[in-house]
Amino acid sequence: GTITFVEYDGTSHDVDLVEGASLMELATSNGIPGIDGDCGGEASCGTCHVIVDDAWIATTGTRSHVESQMVEMSPECAPNSRLGCQVKACPALDGLTVRLPEFQM
Ligand code: FES
Repeated sequence: GTITFVEYDGTSHDVDLVEGASLMELATSNGIPGIDGDCGGEASCGTCHVIVDDAWIATTGTRSHVESQMVEMSPECAPNSRLGCQVKACPALDGLTVRLPEFQM
């Protein structure tokens, strides 16, 4: 499976889907620029912000209360904003595309 990260400038990166890994872990282990994951996946740093492609919201689900508190503090909170560390890769997410916000360039 594949998950695609699209940087704010449009640069696209396909990474292998590793079941059970979070989107933040997949991004950092593949060197995707713009995803730092400073807190190690504790939903407390906001440096793993991703914006889920509209077509995928039904599959990924919506963000939790704790995620909302974090992403709503960011300069660029979209309705589909998620914390990458809180989205776990699973086979159903094969083909998922997420965009990275401008402030994480
Ligand atoms: Fe810190 Fe996701 S890695 S909030």
